[in-house]
Amino acid sequence: MSETSSKPTRSGPLVIYVDDERPNRIVFEQSFTEFNVKAVSDGTAALELLEANDAAVLVTDMRMPGMSGEELLRIAKEKYPRTIRIVITAYSDVSPILRAVNEGLVARYIVKPWTRNEVAQVLRWACEAWTFGRDSAALHQRLLETERLATLGSMAGMLVHDLKQPLMSLLINIDYLRELADAAPMLREAIAQHQSLPSDKKHRLDEVVGELDSLTTDLKTSAVHLSDLVNSLRDMGRPRDGTAPALSATNPLPIVRHAMAVCQELAVAVRASIGYDGPGALPSVRMSATELMQVLVNVVANGAQAVAARGSPHGKVSISARPDGEMLELKVRDDGVGMPREVLDRAGTPFFTTRTEGTGLGIAQCQRLVGGAGGRFSIESEVGKGTTVTITIPVADSTAA
Ligand SMILES: Nc1ncnc2c1ncn2[C@@H]1O[C@H](COP(=O)(O)OP(=O)(O)OP(=O)(O)O)[C@@H](O)[C@H]1O
Ligand SMILES: [Mg+2]
Repeated sequence: MSETSSKPTRSGPLVIYVDDERPNRIVFEQSFTEFNVKAVSDGTAALELLEANDAAVLVTDMRMPGMSGEELLRIAKEKYPRTIRIVITAYSDVSPILRAVNEGLVARYIVKPWTRNEVAQVLRWACEAWTFGRDSAALHQRLLETERLATLGSMAGMLVHDLKQPLMSLLINIDYLRELADAAPMLREAIAQHQSLPSDKKHRLDEVVGELDSLTTDLKTSAVHLSDLVNSLRDMGRPRDGTAPALSATNPLPIVRHAMAVCQELAVAVRASIGYDGPGALPSVRMSATELMQVLVNVVANGAQAVAARGSPHGKVSISARPDGEMLELKVRDDGVGMPREVLDRAGTPFFTTRTEGTGLGIAQCQRLVGGAGGRFSIESEVGKGTTVTITIPVADSTAA
């Protein structure tokens, strides 16, 4: 009688809901009567339930007094890994959510205010995934991975939406500043000709005006970079248009050369070299030039950065190409620092990065674009020796470019 007394009318896989606010718990329990929901007020009570039952789903708030949602999720992941973990939280909690998703602490997060339909759908998915998972651990894992990507995609969409407006005004204002800065030579002349101004003041004013041009250029570069990042985030959230790549036939060689030129500056700075070592003509591939460019620049830049991280000069990033029947194989090798196992395993998870200035979207983007074109993307790496990235893309036709 002890088990059933707490949930007399409900049956099915157990869903634990954790929220410190009583009204939220009542609403949740009453909204999802078709599920076997048990609501508790804190992490400790949730852990007791997890210990006593084989729970299917754990739904938790992030901000709670006492044990935080993150702490609870960490313990649950460690001790009850089969229970599917979901967060319900406000969008303003974006950094803990990202951390939680990236570390595999949660399969899904739901943004407040939620709708009944949305949550019911997620709960149904989670209960099914849990039930399937009892039979196949591999399937369970795959389902969770798919969900994590869906979560990140929708988060990316929200971020892009919020960033667009301020970014636009930043770009417009920088263009205006550019126009003002173009008057700098006139100002300098006026300052030079000013009779009554003491020379130290003249000097200072001249300095200030002199800075305008390069400052504006730097601002513009950073803003454009920011805008590119936002665009790549937006692309992550979008389902891929499967029809586009079939139509395009791209000659890869000019793109390879262009990607090398783009990364040249990076390489020169660390006295490394980038080279192409392959046939002088290659078959066209079924991928747009822009996408191939994005992929190659990301991979070559990663190679150059890995060579830079090694610290000694004369490193090399080399690109080779080999047509192989229906596919073209491109390899980008570097003799940089290489990746330890745990980095290699996580490279390609959106936002995973080990570089302070990295965004951790490069490899994820490459995988998405190459996969969307019907190709394959793989990485082999050895610490201290280097990394080889293999990109295989379907050729457009048998016609050589
Ligand atoms: N060629 C490489 N050699 C060594 N480590 C690499 C290499 N390529 C990627 N990595 C590792 O994988 C991580 C993820 O790479 P990814 O390109 O996705 O993101 P990032 O380079 O950190 O940031 P960005 O979004 O600017 O590309 C890197 O931070 C780095 O630790
Ligand atoms: Mg990168």
